[in-house]
Amino acid sequence: MVANNHLSRRALLGGVAAVMAGIGLAGPAESALAAAKTYTVGKTTEIPVGSAKMYQVAGVPVIVTQPKKGVFKAFNGYCTHQRVQLDSINGSNLICSQHGSSFNTTTGKVTGGPARSSLANYKASVSGTTLKISL
Ligand code: FES
Repeated sequence: MVANNHLSRRALLGGVAAVMAGIGLAGPAESALAAAKTYTVGKTTEIPVGSAKMYQVAGVPVIVTQPKKGVFKAFNGYCTHQRVQLDSINGSNLICSQHGSSFNTTTGKVTGGPARSSLANYKASVSGTTLKISL
């Protein structure tokens, strides 16, 4: 009886996986690879060293920083505390003035609360002076 239950459970899980694959629900890694798309957002000259600029990329607010010459970083522009858009920069910190959270301009990690989670990051790339972001 136990063996039958085990087989039934295995068969059921296999059936669920087959259905998910059939309707296009792949595993997380496959989804991320398939979903990544690169967008041209602007020129590198729009973001001097030590500054940041917010772009709307496919409906997503993306804040791009240049913490060091030639190094561009891109993060989701929503504060992880209560989803308000980041609105300023202070030194090496992106600031959400709603409640004062801050995030490192290179890593997106929290440098000051109340936010407790890092900003989601995206791939930023440069071709000549063209800035591209992959979501
Ligand atoms: S929403 Fe940004 S600190 Fe609260």
